[in-house]
Amino acid sequence: MGKRVVVVGSQWGDEGKGKITDFLAEKADVVVRSQGGNNAGHTIIFNGKKFALHLIPSGIFNPETINVMANGMVINPEALLEELNTLKTQGIEKYRLFISNRAHVVMPYHLDLDELYEEIKKDEAVGTTKKGIGPAYMDKVARIGIRISDLVNPDSLKKRLEINLRFTNMILRANNRKTYELESLYDRFIEIGKIIKPYITDTSVLLEKLVDEGKNILFEGAQGSMLCVDHGTYPYVTSSSPTATSVPLNAGISPNQITDVVGVTKAYTTRVGGGVFPTEFEDEISKTIREVGKEYGTTTKRPRRIGWLDLVVLKHVKRINGLNHLAIMLLDVLTGVKELKICTSYTLDGNEIDYVPADYNEYERCVPNYITLPGWNEDISKTKSFEDLPENCINYLLTVERILKIKVTIVSVGPDRLQTLTLKNIF
Ligand code: GDP
Ligand code: IMO
Ligand code: MG
Repeated sequence: MGKRVVVVGSQWGDEGKGKITDFLAEKADVVVRSQGGNNAGHTIIFNGKKFALHLIPSGIFNPETINVMANGMVINPEALLEELNTLKTQGIEKYRLFISNRAHVVMPYHLDLDELYEEIKKDEAVGTTKKGIGPAYMDKVARIGIRISDLVNPDSLKKRLEINLRFTNMILRANNRKTYELESLYDRFIEIGKIIKPYITDTSVLLEKLVDEGKNILFEGAQGSMLCVDHGTYPYVTSSSPTATSVPLNAGISPNQITDVVGVTKAYTTRVGGGVFPTEFEDEISKTIREVGKEYGTTTKRPRRIGWLDLVVLKHVKRINGLNHLAIMLLDVLTGVKELKICTSYTLDGNEIDYVPADYNEYERCVPNYITLPGWNEDISKTKSFEDLPENCINYLLTVERILKIKVTIVSVGPDRLQTLTLKNIF
């Protein structure tokens, strides 16, 4: 009987999901992306080579692995072809890739709308990746979206585009932006449909078959749970739910098929874009962490904001995802920091709380309460087993495990595939 394991971002994204997915993919038969689009940037390093994936699942490097882009994704097909092309130039040519016919298409006008909506919000702009993700999901729920299946059905594409452009052009025109012509969009996307046709299928049916065959399946989260449109720091969130709970809906599998949920967290915290971030700090230590951890966005190159590890956030994320494993990443980056702070509760208007408030202004008023642990100076980047880590390092990990009551299953001590310590096999 195979396992169905979800890898979920447990902070505000960029926790190292790509690295862990690639690492676990060695034992998986299938890797599935189920939400988001090319707002994601997943870095994978092995054999001295670095890859950045945005849309394509991180199982793409093994020619045997089945890679699925499921129905809950929003896919920019031109960006997809570009990504496939980049992989080709890096020597990755043999792969198995399937795209859901129910996934939504990020159209060129979604990029314009993303930019426009951010401009209209002025000081309240979310700081999106400007990849058109929000507007594509807006069209999906407004029932005016274009789906992958439309790209290979000429009549459907014409009809869906005609209806969509009634709305989109109205908004663009009212804001003095360039409008779109049906004919040229139709010609451009029907051609794309021809190119990607071999990859398109009903991935829910495919996954059911693979589950029945007892395959090991890995669901690669994008973004992070704190960016969840339902459970994150709304409105400073993305437009999908990056939680384990969303996987059955977004991949067309049944909820009782998930066997394990791996929460991926940095040993500290980062956030890119706007929004509340209680444990954020800016001093010499945060600058060092940013440089040592190369904390600049994979997708937008923006410097990431830095904060201490926040266990109130992780407790919230454990509850909404049912985390039963923790993968603690970038532990090596903390080497040399004398005193390490961990947030265990907040003070809100004079009261101690241990949950994430729903109200954005309340959350902004939260002041973190910390415990302080001694750091370590030893280089841990070549450490091969948990027991060989310095005592203070082990103490840091066990403190997190004890407070959260989740097993630390994986510890990452460097960006390379090989710099990974496993405490318990997941597959
Ligand atoms: P993702 O979006 O969750 O896949 O994460 P990103 O790839 O956007 O960002 C994680 C960054 O940390 C990448 O640059 C990785 O190469 C790097 N990384 C992952 N694990 C480690 C680690 O254990 N140590 C260090 N130093 N870097 C890591
Ligand atoms: P991975 O998968 C970090 C952030 C953006 C912005 C907000 C909304 O690499 O962890 P969007 O373009 O989605 O409408 O932007 O969400 N964001 C991410 N931050 N990692 C990501 O993906 C992100 N995807 C979106 O910075 O604050
Ligand atoms: Mg990333």
